[in-house]
Amino acid sequence: MDDQRRIFLATASRLGALAALTSASATGRAQNRDGGHAYPFSLGVASGSPLPDAVIIWTRILHDPLNAAATPRLAFSVRWEMAEDEQFRRIVAKGAASAAPELAHSVHVDVTGLRPDRWYWYRFMLGDAVSPVGRTRTVPAASGMPKQLKLAVASCQHWEFGTYAAHRHIAAAAPDLVAFLGDYIYEWGPYQLRHPKSAVRASESFTLADYRARYAQYKTDANLQAAHHAAPWIVTWDDHEVANDYGNEQDERLDPRFLQRRAAAYQAFYEHMPLRLTPRDFAHLRIYQRYDWGKLARFHVLDDRQYRADLACPPPGRGGSNSVQPRTCPALTDLGRGMLGREQEQWLAQGLSSSPARWNILAQQTLMAQNSQLPVVKEGDGRFWTDGWDGYPAARRKLMDTLHTSRASNPLVLSGDVHSFFACELARNPSRPASPDNPLLATEFCGTSITSPSRPQTRTEQYVSMNHGIKYGRSDKRGYMLLTITPSDTSAHFLVLDNVHDDASPIARAAAFVVRDGRAGPVRA
Ligand SMILES: [Fe+2]
Repeated sequence: MDDQRRIFLATASRLGALAALTSASATGRAQNRDGGHAYPFSLGVASGSPLPDAVIIWTRILHDPLNAAATPRLAFSVRWEMAEDEQFRRIVAKGAASAAPELAHSVHVDVTGLRPDRWYWYRFMLGDAVSPVGRTRTVPAASGMPKQLKLAVASCQHWEFGTYAAHRHIAAAAPDLVAFLGDYIYEWGPYQLRHPKSAVRASESFTLADYRARYAQYKTDANLQAAHHAAPWIVTWDDHEVANDYGNEQDERLDPRFLQRRAAAYQAFYEHMPLRLTPRDFAHLRIYQRYDWGKLARFHVLDDRQYRADLACPPPGRGGSNSVQPRTCPALTDLGRGMLGREQEQWLAQGLSSSPARWNILAQQTLMAQNSQLPVVKEGDGRFWTDGWDGYPAARRKLMDTLHTSRASNPLVLSGDVHSFFACELARNPSRPASPDNPLLATEFCGTSITSPSRPQTRTEQYVSMNHGIKYGRSDKRGYMLLTITPSDTSAHFLVLDNVHDDASPIARAAAFVVRDGRAGPVRA
């Protein structure tokens, strides 16, 4: 008896309504409340974690996005196909995979044996239902130097603060790869299928069922599905996939059961992302990973949430972030406070020093450049928000030293979280301008949000004027970043929507920067 059959029978016998349910499972249909048959691929498809010969393809069987109970608690056998053409005339791989209720009927297939640097099309079938077709690709062979990589970078898509028009534009841009840097979901908001006019802080997610329902709600969006259907994604998480401003095992409420909540949230993240992971020990799910784009780019995808030291000097009686001055918060500059954890730091150092890539891209969640809220004239000055890298200055210094000693070529940091565009220089000491004594070690591009709001632009302009490393900042517009990476340079376009509340909003370039091979720092293009 194969595993799928065993799961099927075991689950069916528990339910005791075998006849009705096997009939549903055999056809892939579930009856909806009106007695009709619902479409099982309501959340679309996705792909990601590309290798030269493999890519993960994903879907989830869910007949009613707002009612998981409409899908029978059975393991479905979902068929899949991968082809070289959109019409599926040249199928190169196919098979069947189990969609088990224990993993929310999610399907992750690692399709192997593919050719490098190729586009493919994939789809799933259940009964007579056929999923939307997704387009995906493999990465170039390890030995090659590709001419170009077109990369879309996005983050922060709170359902309540606008439409996903930016995702429609990402799909239209036809990138080779999408990097999503966190806050794919936010943990609160009514479970509804329309983006509302205003936000209501209700229905906070705590349980596995809550988080699954949240992903289902978000993934119904046609524009988000289109961005997934256009290209493979690489992903990391930030705080809102679990809870605002959490770090390691501590949340804002100092909830003693937080680790249970985190495990549920991490499991739901795995269930809804095209990740190549073994689904076990969700309380400590390791998501930091590396991806090579031939010899052109190496992506070091980081997790700066799970292993960080507790946030420094939280408000009295609480966890979470604060804005603090080094004088009154000694913990801020404590040399022992890490951001990535020792194991990930060592993994990163090794990945940098062994990297054959022209561009070493640190794809991670939070702003790395120093962004003081007060002028910094001498050591100890300034006021810093503790949730980003500004809350972990010793860890940031250590990372800068690692970039320096690894001699990795062209370190480029990509970040999200702060709902603002920033173009930055990263010098070893961020409080002083770059100089021969204070070498410029990396470039940083921080993307704005898909929807989530930020501070007024006037305040951001004050930050730009107070912080040496920040060369440009824009916080009043939503959108995404489009990077073109070539052996000789990387260009970044900061793209902004006219109106995030208008699903049909056009998008335009707010600014563009270029980084030349061998010369850290963004140059206005
Ligand atoms: Fe966010």
